[in-house]
Amino acid sequence: MSLVKRFVIICFSASIFFSVVLGLLITSSLEQNMIRRSEELTATFIIREVNRYFTTYDFNTPKIDQDYEDFQKRTNRIIHSADIERVKIWDKRKKIIWSDEKQLIGQVFLDNLDLNRALTGETVSKISDLKKKEHQLERKFNKLLELYVPISFGLSQDVDAVFEIYRNLDPLFRDIFKQKWSTWIILILGFGVLFLTLLGIVVNASRRIESQNKEIKMSEKRYRSLVQSAKDGIISIDKSGKVILFNEAAEHMFRYTSGEVIGHSLEMLMPERFREKYQVASSRLFKKGNATVIGKTIELEGLRKDGGIFPLELSLSTPGITDNVIVTAIIRDITERKVMQEHLLKSEMHKCISTIAGSIGHEINNLACSLIGYAELLQQELQNEELALECAEVFSTQSQRLKLHADNLLELSKPRKVERKAINVNQLLNKITKLLLSSGLLKLYKIIKRFSDDVPTVLGDENLLEQVISNLEINSAHAMGTQGVLTLSTGVSKNDSNYVEMTIKDTGHGIAEDKRHQIFLPFYTTKEKGKGTGLGMYIVKEIIDQHKGYIQLDSKVGIGTTITIGLPLI
Ligand SMILES: Nc1ncnc2c1ncn2[C@@H]1O[C@H](COP(=O)(O)OP(=O)(O)OP(=O)(O)O)[C@@H](O)[C@H]1O
Ligand SMILES: [Mg+2]
Repeated sequence: MSLVKRFVIICFSASIFFSVVLGLLITSSLEQNMIRRSEELTATFIIREVNRYFTTYDFNTPKIDQDYEDFQKRTNRIIHSADIERVKIWDKRKKIIWSDEKQLIGQVFLDNLDLNRALTGETVSKISDLKKKEHQLERKFNKLLELYVPISFGLSQDVDAVFEIYRNLDPLFRDIFKQKWSTWIILILGFGVLFLTLLGIVVNASRRIESQNKEIKMSEKRYRSLVQSAKDGIISIDKSGKVILFNEAAEHMFRYTSGEVIGHSLEMLMPERFREKYQVASSRLFKKGNATVIGKTIELEGLRKDGGIFPLELSLSTPGITDNVIVTAIIRDITERKVMQEHLLKSEMHKCISTIAGSIGHEINNLACSLIGYAELLQQELQNEELALECAEVFSTQSQRLKLHADNLLELSKPRKVERKAINVNQLLNKITKLLLSSGLLKLYKIIKRFSDDVPTVLGDENLLEQVISNLEINSAHAMGTQGVLTLSTGVSKNDSNYVEMTIKDTGHGIAEDKRHQIFLPFYTTKEKGKGTGLGMYIVKEIIDQHKGYIQLDSKVGIGTTITIGLPLI
């Protein structure tokens, strides 16, 4: 049964029940009030009128003959003006001293309880039981009020007489009936309006609820179809870590049906080695509300039903860390991507190797050709001393170039294992600068040293760091040409006291802004053919990265270049 129908039945029955109960209560109290009011008014009227037309002496003896007529006149004045049908007048000895039924005069009724009460000063009233035999006279009435009104004269409270009167209640009951009717009509109308108003409100509310329910159902349907048709696996878990949602893509990925997973721990979907970490992370999330993993994408591995393991990417989201937390994981099978990446890496490596091979092969070929050419020349003119000297010089310089290429190649090929030890950068700079000076490479330049005396030691590979300094100083020498100033400084970084910095500043030709990022790329060189391989800065960068340090480059074309190497303290 619909909500509205149920409400109509309940509300209608309740309205009827309450209106009937309320109507009965109101009308019965109305009736009683009206009767009581009528009794009071009649009694007050009788007392006032009796006091007006009678005295205490009138009630000493029963009234017969002349007295009867006289009494009748006076009583008639009272009864005619108050719908009073009959009168009996009792003296205080319970004797009837006057009545409209003459034969009753002089009779004594000692057992009349109502009379006895009236003689104590109480006004006694009742709706007369018209079925009794003695009420033959009253039968013509539907309802009669029988009223015993005690009469006292003067200041004394003693009852001198009792007027027993019968008042016709038919007019009063007609009034009561009318009043009751109007009360019932007002009640029925009131409850009807109330019922209709409530019905209106409920119908309205139920329509709104119905449309909202429809909307919710639609949106749930949309959400379900979205979740089910998603290409990514979607898994939701509740606070206890149990799976509560497992979509089709997840079924496909893990080879489980949702029925096999829902209600179980998420651990069944991960290889053994991840389970401990997962427990720690999930307890941190659910118990302490620490959700560092929420919103991040992590690479993990998934465990299929058949025991197969596959790489996956997982991102977690939650509507909030609350008591009813639900975490939703979006899972992507990245097997294909991994294969592609490997493939790409291999082809990149292949490309790199072929570039290196091509470049070096070309370089070596040039050098070899020139060496062969000079060697042939020397063979032909062995006696020519001048030529021999020239050839010897060419052999020497070209062989050095060959060696440089060979060294760089070796450097690239080495699986650079960093062997760290405590290093004083002042000593290292001194050592390399001295070596380059003695080989003549720096002899044309003024060298300024601004070393910090108490520079802290760094942890590094001495050979590799020597290579860094040597590459940088040779580059500076090449940039300065025939003259210039080379300034070497050391000290703790001003920005981060956890780093020691070595700065090599030259007054060379500088590097244009748009070329600055390129100098760290392999084979980038601006030097003329045969003079540079373009691997120096690339190797420098590699080495500094391995040391978890940094390189800063500051250069102005025509003014010079400053390169700062930052290395972490021990
Ligand atoms: N101190 C510097 N001043 C100006 N230009 C520089 C400086 N250091 C490097 N460069 C520029 O960066 C380029 C790349 O330098 P890198 O050391 O990698 O190669 P290279 O010196 O040309 O050759 P090599 O392999 O022999 O070192 C240089 O050719 C040069 O143009
Ligand atoms: Mg160089």
